Amino acid sequence: MKGADGKLDVSESLEVIDDGFELVRIIGKGTVGTVCEYRRRSDDRVVAIKLMKLTPMGTPEVFEGIIKAALATKPLADQTNVVRVFSAGKVPPNTYYIIMEMMRGGTLEEYIKRVELSLKEKLDISAKIADALYAIHFKGIIHGDLKPSNILMSAEGEPYLNDFYLYSSDSSTQIPYMSIGTPFYMSPEQASGALVTPKTDIYSFGVMLYELVTGEMPYSTGMDSINGLIEEITNGSIAPPSKRKRGVSPKLDAVILKLLEKEPDERYRDMALAASDLRGCRENGPISIPAEKQSFWHRFFHRR
Ligand SMILES: Nc1ncnc2c1ncn2[C@@H]1O[C@H](COP(=O)(O)OP(=O)(O)OP(=O)(O)O)[C@@H](O)[C@H]1O
Ligand SMILES: [Mg+2]
Repeated sequence: MKGADGKLDVSESLEVIDDGFELVRIIGKGTVGTVCEYRRRSDDRVVAIKLMKLTPMGTPEVFEGIIKAALATKPLADQTNVVRVFSAGKVPPNTYYIIMEMMRGGTLEEYIKRVELSLKEKLDISAKIADALYAIHFKGIIHGDLKPSNILMSAEGEPYLNDFYLYSSDSSTQIPYMSIGTPFYMSPEQASGALVTPKTDIYSFGVMLYELVTGEMPYSTGMDSINGLIEEITNGSIAPPSKRKRGVSPKLDAVILKLLEKEPDERYRDMALAASDLRGCRENGPISIPAEKQSFWHRFFHRR
């Protein structure tokens, strides 16, 4: 079952799942698996299939958690911006799979490089992602690895949440964050090895929004110093987005800084409120953060 590079030989594995599929192309490889485009022979339907193989890094419990989370999102796909999962499960002895809708617009990361978006459009996309996060949290799912490469775009430019790592805060399915991907989006509590909660996703969403709005990460440390980055995430102060990008309002500054509070309890109560504030910022309407606090942050960081 192993290819020349030691990774999964996808075509062989898929035969085990269902020999009614034909491999079109390998889309890409991530930390825990390989995603390929397949065509179902019976009706020519094209799907994306993620195949994951047990490695020393992930215990069966972790993969069971990923499969459980993927299946739990199934009923959400009709109403929310969550990538549609058709089925997910295990191919004995040690391969797991998720069959999903094939997304044609690439990742949000690629999309923003390709398409010049206005601030309003960015806030619109962010509010939709916020709604989808609220929907999964409501179902007891924690994303656990939110980042622009895990937001997939439809051909029409709609964002969809993808790749859920965790189902509930059950500790047996949680793996230390550092081992599953880029550390840039992790929250202070993840950096200190604590269990993740929906508040963790709220923080990671804040990092993503900061990057989307300013074009920069909230931190100055790069990958060359992982300990420096962890220190900055845990203790460093974050410059308000308006310091990095002209045209960011005191309201949007306040929203982003609230998402990025170090203390989970200080962050938004839930993503529904964050979504509503993002729409408030987009329309220059009311938001839930009191005006004194908005101008305080603005004045505090903009004083010379
Ligand atoms: N349903 C899908 N439709 C189209 N492309 C997809 C789909 N799911 C994943 N991809 C793409 O396949 C590639 C590999 O995805 P994968 O999730 O394995 O890795 P990743 O997102 O880069 O990292 P990570 O493992 O941390 O999630 C990525 O480029 C991803 O955007
Ligand atoms: Mg992914």
